[in-house]
Parts: sequence; C-alpha cells; structure tokens
Amino acid sequence: MPPDLNESRAQLAGLKWLAVAIVVLLIAVLLTTWRRARSVPPLPAVLSASTPRISELRCAECHSEIVTAQQSSPHARTLTRITERSIDEHFAGRSFHRNELSLQFHYEAHGGKLTVSTPGYARKLPIEWVFGSGTHAQTPLLTWLNDKGSFSGIEHGVSWYPDGQLGVTLGLEEQTASVGIEALGHPRSAAETINCFGCHCTLVPTSDGRILFDQIEPGVGCVRCHWNMPQHVREMESGLTSTIEKFSRMTPHESVDRCGECHRRADEMGGPIEKDDRSIARFASVGFVQSPCFLQQSEITLANGQPARFDCVSCHDPHRPTQRDWSFHSAVCLKCHDTEQHRAPDCTAATRESNCLSCHMPQVPSNEHLQFTDHWIRIRDRKQP
Ligand code: HEC
Ligand code: HEC
Ligand code: HEC
Ligand code: HEC
Ligand code: HEC
Ligand code: HEC
Ligand code: HEC
Repeated sequence: MPPDLNESRAQLAGLKWLAVAIVVLLIAVLLTTWRRARSVPPLPAVLSASTPRISELRCAECHSEIVTAQQSSPHARTLTRITERSIDEHFAGRSFHRNELSLQFHYEAHGGKLTVSTPGYARKLPIEWVFGSGTHAQTPLLTWLNDKGSFSGIEHGVSWYPDGQLGVTLGLEEQTASVGIEALGHPRSAAETINCFGCHCTLVPTSDGRILFDQIEPGVGCVRCHWNMPQHVREMESGLTSTIEKFSRMTPHESVDRCGECHRRADEMGGPIEKDDRSIARFASVGFVQSPCFLQQSEITLANGQPARFDCVSCHDPHRPTQRDWSFHSAVCLKCHDTEQHRAPDCTAATRESNCLSCHMPQVPSNEHLQFTDHWIRIRDRKQP
C-alpha cells in the first residue's frame, strides 16, 4: 500500500505558519542529512541479478559445524522479513508515545502482517522488514514502490532495545515532523534504502535499480565475506589445489578493511578522526586502527617466536556471537603486554589480573538504551605527574 504524500501535504495546505515551520524543518533536515552523509557514506554492496551465486547449503556439505554455528550469530540474524512465522513480538500489540512530538504509535499483528499507525498519518502502514538482530536494537524500515516503480524507504523513528523497551531510534532524536509521512521517521532515497539492505544481506539482486525481493538473502552469510566461492567449490570437488583467499594472509589493515566494508573504514569518515568524538565508538573498525597497539604491532614477537598479529579476528570469531567474558579479551592484550618477556609495556596503573577493557576499551552510551565499545585502545585518564 503506497503512502500518499499528496494527501499529507494537503493536510498542511493553507496554514501559513506551518509553511514557515516547514522551511525551518527543511533546513534542519538538510543539515542533519549533511552531517549523517559525512559520517556514514553509503557503500554499494549490491549485485546484479545475473552475478553467479552459490547456496549456503553447498558450504554445509564440507563445513557443517561453521554453518550451524553461524546461523545463531548476530550477522546471520541482522535482517528479518515479517511473515506469518516471524511476526515481530517486539512490536506487535504494543504502543509507544514520543513525548517530544506528542505522538502515539500503535503496532498490530493481523494475519501474518505487522502494521504501524499513528494519529500523525492518515493510513496504517505495513512493516515488512525489521533491521537488527536485537543484540543492540531493532528498527523497522517501511518500504514501498512509488508510482514510477522506484523503491523508497522510511527508517522508522521508533526502535526496540534489548532492555525490552521501545524508544527513539538512534540518530533520529532530532526529528521534528509530527504530521505527514515524516512523522513515521526518516525518509530514505532509493539508493540509501538499497544500501541498508546491502550491508544487512548476503545478496541483494537488483534489476533496473530495483531490488528483486523474491531473490534477496537477508542476513550476512558466508559468501558476503568469502569471495569467489563458486571457484572454491569447483576446486574442492575436483581435488584441485585450493586458491581460496585467506584472511590470515592479508595484512592486518587489509583484513580490518574487509570488516570495515560494513563497519566503516577510517578513510571514509571524510575528516580528521578526533579522540573526543563519541560517535566513533559505533564504528569499531574506525577507532581500532587508530590504536598504538594496532599501528605498532609489527614491533612485537610473541612467546612462540611468531610475529604478533592484531586485527578484528584476534577477539571476534566471525562465525559466532561476541565473547562477553572480559577475561577472554584481557588475555589477548596480555599476549603482547608482557614486560617480563621484553614485549610491549605493562600497565603502570593496574595489575595484570584487572579488566583492561574497563579503562582502555570502555562502553560508551549512545542513548539511554544503547552503548557501544570504544575500540580505540588508549590511555584516557593519565595520572598527573
Ligand atoms: C567439497 C567440499 C567443500 C565445499 C562444498 C566447500 N568447501 Fe570450503 N574448504 C574445503 C576444504 C577441503 C578446505 C581446506 C583447503 C584450504 O585450506 O585451502 C576449505 C577451506 C575453506 C576456507 C578456508 C580459508 C582459510 O582461511 O583457511 C573457507 C573460508 C571456506 N572453505 C569457505 C567455504 C564456503 C563459504 C563454502 C560454501 C560456499 C565452502 N567453503 C564450500 C572444502 C569445501
Ligand atoms: C556485509 C556487512 C558486514 C561485514 C562484511 C561484516 N559485518 Fe559485522 N556486522 C554487520 C551487521 C549488519 C551487524 C549488526 C548485527 C546485528 O543486527 O546485531 C554486525 C555486527 C557485528 C558484531 C557484533 C556482534 C554482536 O555480538 O553483537 C561484530 C563483533 C562484528 N560484526 C564483527 C565483524 C568482523 C570481525 C567482520 C570482518 C571479518 C565483520 N563483522 C564483517 C555487518 C557486517
Ligand atoms: C555501510 C553499511 C551499512 C549501511 C549502509 C547500513 N547499516 Fe545498519 N549496521 C551496519 C553495521 C556494521 C551494524 C553493526 C554496528 C553498528 O551498530 O553500527 C549495523 C547495525 C544496525 C542496526 C542494529 C542496531 C545498532 O545500532 O547496532 C540497525 C537497526 C540498522 N543497522 C539499521 C540500518 C538501516 C535502517 C539502514 C539504512 C537506513 C542501515 N542500517 C544502513 C552496517 C550498515
Ligand atoms: C563476517 C564475515 C564472515 C562470514 C559471514 C563468514 N566468515 Fe568464514 N571466516 C571469516 C574470517 C575473517 C575468517 C578467518 C578467521 C581467522 O583467521 O581466525 C574465516 C574463516 C573461515 C574458515 C576457515 C577457518 C575455520 O574457522 O575453519 C572457514 C572454513 C569458513 N570461514 C567458512 C565459512 C562459512 C561456511 C560461512 C557461512 C556459514 C562463513 N565462513 C561466514 C569471515 C566470515
Ligand atoms: C581486543 C579485543 C577486540 C578487538 C581486537 C576487536 N573487538 Fe570488537 N568488541 C570487543 C569487546 C570486548 C566487545 C564488547 C563485548 C560485549 O558486549 O561484552 C566488542 C564489541 C564489538 C561490537 C558490538 C558493538 C559494540 O560496540 O559493543 C562490534 C560491532 C565489534 N566489536 C566489531 C569489531 C570490529 C569490526 C573489529 C575490528 C576492527 C573489532 N571489533 C576488534 C573486543 C574487541
Ligand atoms: C599485537 C600486540 C598488542 C596487543 C594484542 C595489544 N597491544 Fe596495546 N600496545 C601494543 C604496542 C606495540 C603499543 C605501543 C607501545 C609503546 O608505545 O612502546 C601498545 C600501547 C598500548 C597502550 C598505550 C597507549 C597510549 O595511548 O600511549 C595501552 C593503554 C595499551 N596498549 C593497552 C592495550 C589493551 C588494553 C589491549 C587489549 C584490549 C592491548 N593493548 C592489546 C601492542 C599490543
Ligand atoms: C583502572 C583503570 C585501568 C585498568 C583496569 C587498566 N589500565 Fe592500563 N592504564 C591506566 C592508566 C590511567 C594509564 C596511564 C598511567 C600513567 O599515565 O601513568 C594506563 C597505562 C597503560 C599502558 C601504558 C604503559 C606505558 O608505560 O606506556 C599500558 C600498556 C596499559 N595501561 C595496559 C593495560 C592492560 C594490558 C590492562 C589489563 C591487564 C590495563 N592496562 C588495565 C588505567 C588502567
């Protein structure tokens, strides 16, 4: 059901003071879009429908343990299509009041469909896609084809958070529209909408700039990180020499940049990267590569005589959920920070048994429900001499 922009505009017609408000709003929207565009440049991550592809079922023939494990990772679950079987209990049957807009939202489930309605907009709209596994947040993206057949979206202004509460979507706090389609959230262009799917899917086949939703593969799966898999399967089936690309043979920077394709790369930030910019914490791969530990890793030789290596997979198994136990991560630090072995220096402010993360990789709140881990490992609070 395409939302009718004209209808909402009609509601505003004739009210002069509202026109003034809209001009102010437009400037505000332009400013925020500009700011967002600067910090989050969208990346093309979308393939033409004719690109050869391969099913995950093929991987399971030879790597069944990894395939099973990966299904429970946040990567695999980062996008949900609402169907009869996956009606989102996080929203269904609930209401949320956005105090600053004096606006109520209602979510209902009927016959395998989830809808949102609000007094700010005349129609009930279907929610077909929910972004985020729920580890940090879940945000509906309302999508439709406009009359020209091109595809648009609205990032909904309300999200579900792991404390069980609904709250304002991160980044949309400054929304001011309380009437019309924009009351529902932040309108996204066709390109931006496709990019949302691009980073949250294994494959987004497109034809003439339109997503072929019947062929989409939601969630980040094997072939999104491991490239040229048809060739790998051919080689392995025919007993040929393996030419598969290995992350362990990339430089640490190349390996981090592969994750940074979605987690963002430092060179995309379009400006200097400042220590006091708290928004960087959301982009692990941007902060991490600023750390002296990352930059000076080649100076260190480990106990086994091998050169040290420090990249994302030192702490994250890309096929499994994140380790929540701090001592697992501290052990990674202590491999290098070991003055006794003449490697990198020990801490001058705490013991080797303490939780290094609490001071050197702290949790940074982004809003009242959500925090990110600051991956820029550094001294934050130096003792005065
Ligand atoms: C017919 C069996 C077979 C199939 C099917 C298969 N693999 Fe493999 N794979 C292997 C074997 C054997 C190796 C070890 C060869 C090597 O390390 O070069 C391997 C190695 C790998 C590696 C190791 C790279 C590294 O860093 O050591 C990755 C990644 C991988 N496969 C991914 C996949 C994915 C993704 C799929 C599904 C698209 C898949 N494989 C399908 C047999 C298979
Ligand atoms: C195709 C895009 C994409 C790529 C490539 C990617 N990620 Fe992610 N990653 C995501 C998305 C989307 C999420 C959010 C998952 C969710 O909804 O909770 C995520 C979440 C994560 C999380 C948080 C998981 C948790 O337990 O909450 C970690 C850790 C992570 N990614 C590490 C990596 C590493 C390491 C790499 C590189 C080997 C990588 N990612 C590559 C898209 C990507
Ligand atoms: C450049 C790749 C990229 C694009 C484009 C992108 N995302 Fe994400 N998204 C990620 C990654 C990586 C994560 C996990 C880390 C994080 O939270 O930023 C994530 C996390 C999320 C989450 C989980 C909550 C959270 O904040 O961790 C939601 C919800 C989400 N994205 C929605 C969207 C929507 C809606 C769009 C389009 C407007 C979008 N994303 C565009 C890469 C992307
Ligand atoms: C988020 C990116 C990402 C996704 C998704 C992903 N992998 Fe991997 N995979 C990696 C990275 C990075 C490594 C190298 C890990 C290392 O060196 O410790 C790896 C290593 C491997 C290996 C060799 C090492 C091992 O653990 O045996 C295999 C086999 C493999 N992946 C198969 C798969 C399969 C099958 C899937 C889908 C179910 C998959 N991967 C999904 C990033 C990913
Ligand atoms: C020294 C260990 C370490 C390294 C290296 C590391 N991380 Fe993390 N990461 C963590 C810890 C600890 C957490 C928080 C786990 C928890 O929630 O308890 C985390 C959490 C995350 C999350 C979830 C959101 C958040 O900020 O809490 C993402 C996404 C992530 N890491 C991505 C990455 C990427 C991408 C890289 C490589 C650039 C990377 N990490 C390198 C330790 C590490
Ligand atoms: C690959 C080896 C390696 C790993 C792993 C590693 N570091 Fe480092 N770290 C270094 C090196 C090398 C330096 C630079 C030492 C110097 O300046 O002499 C450094 C510097 C530091 C500094 C000083 C930074 C500053 O601002 O001057 C701190 C704090 C630190 N590391 C903490 C940690 C913590 C906490 C972890 C685990 C989360 C960790 N490191 C993991 C190698 C490593
Ligand atoms: C209670 C907070 C706290 C904890 C916990 C902590 N550190 Fe530190 N660390 C600091 C402070 C503060 C400094 C700077 C001290 C100074 O300026 O004299 C520091 C300095 C360092 C340095 C730089 C030393 C030098 O000589 O340049 C390293 C390396 C380091 N810490 C590593 C670690 C590791 C590894 C752990 C976990 C085993 C850890 N820290 C735990 C607060 C902490």
